[in-house]
Parts: sequence; structure tokens; C-alpha cells
Amino acid sequence: MNSNKVNIEIKKLNKNNIKNIVRLESKMFHPDECFPYHTIRLFIIRGNAWGVYYNRELIGYYFLLPYKKRMRIYSIGLLKEYRNKGIGTFVMENILKYSYEQGYHEISLEVRTDNTTAINFYKKFDFIVVERLKDYYEKGIDGYRMYHIPTSRNKTA
Ligand SMILES: CC(C)(COP(=O)(O)OP(=O)(O)OC[C@H]1O[C@@H](n2cnc3c(N)ncnc32)[C@H](O)[C@@H]1OP(=O)(O)O)[C@@H](O)C(=O)NCCC(=O)NCCS
Repeated sequence: MNSNKVNIEIKKLNKNNIKNIVRLESKMFHPDECFPYHTIRLFIIRGNAWGVYYNRELIGYYFLLPYKKRMRIYSIGLLKEYRNKGIGTFVMENILKYSYEQGYHEISLEVRTDNTTAINFYKKFDFIVVERLKDYYEKGIDGYRMYHIPTSRNKTA
């Protein structure tokens, strides 16, 4: 996948990328919030992990978890210096397009209730909060479950 507007590519990850994703996550999240090696490996070998590349440099990633009728965005992140430049928008448009193409019209995710940036980002793509998940991340750290409701605007995204 390519974008003419920004020089980014999205590519499915393979086993050679596991350590790179471990490293990337450690730059992005608090150690307690990083996935263990085996989780990352599992997403990659099941073909549910994508890398985001800027000038061939890995700068972000996302994991998708397909259920019978619903696609769940399990994790998404970009390195700090690449945020708020429209790259996340490009990535999310690709996730939605891919999910629609695979026949999913329900897309869900979880997010910390204090992650206002991400919540605003998801709302821009018509995700709405459907549930508050008490102590979802750890005791005292709640989550929101958000669902994407397709509209005529973003169906063709
Ligand atoms: C969430 C994330 C992927 C968004 O990617 P991004 O490239 O920064 O997003 P974009 O530049 O495309 O911005 C899209 C919209 O998100 C919202 N947004 C992005 N950064 C924001 C900020 N700092 N404050 C408020 N809203 C913000 C805005 O609505 C923005 O739309 P606008 O540009 O029209 O105002 C990125 O911020 C990130 O990697 N965050 C850290 C990891 C994380 O929290 N992941 C989610 C875990 S559930």
C-alpha cells in the first residue's frame, strides 16, 4: 500500500520483524503496557500484524484480531515523532478498508479512558464508546470499549 500524500507504506510483518516490534513497543509504551514477546510472535505468525514504514524505516505497527463477525483492533501505535502528522489517519483508513474488504462491518477496540488523544483519533473515524470497562488495564485504570459504525462516508475510505 502506498500514499501519494505522505511517503509511507504498510506491510504485513513476518517472523524476522518480531524483535523490531519488541523494540518499537518499548519506545512507545510504558514497560507494563508492552506485549510479551510470545504475544507479538503469535500475531505475526498468524498474519494479523502490520508494520508502518516511513522511508523504509519501521515507525509504527498494528495488530488486528478477527472474530466471526467483528474485527478488533488489538493494538496500534506510531513512534512519538511521527504522530499528529496524518500518518495515523492513513493507517486507520487502511484498517477500515481492509476490514470492509474482508467482510467485517463491526470493528471494535479498547482504549484507556485517560488516552484522550487516541479517543479523539478514534472518534474521528466514527468509533463510539459503548462500554466502560472497570479496571480493564489494571486496578484503577479503566478502559473504554469503542465500536465503529460504518457510514456512507467512510465505507469507501
Ligand atoms: C493514536 C495514534 C495512532 C494517532 O495517530 P496520529 O498519526 O497521531 O493521528 P493523525 O495525525 O492522523 O490525527 C488524526 C486525528 O487524531 C486526533 N489527534 C491526533 N493527535 C492528537 C492530539 N495530540 N491531541 C488531540 N487530538 C489528536 C485529531 O482528531 C486528529 O484529527 P485532526 O488532525 O483533523 O485534528 C497516535 O497518536 C499514537 O501512536 N499514539 C500512541 C499509541 C496509542 O496511544 N495507541 C492507542 C492505544 S489504544
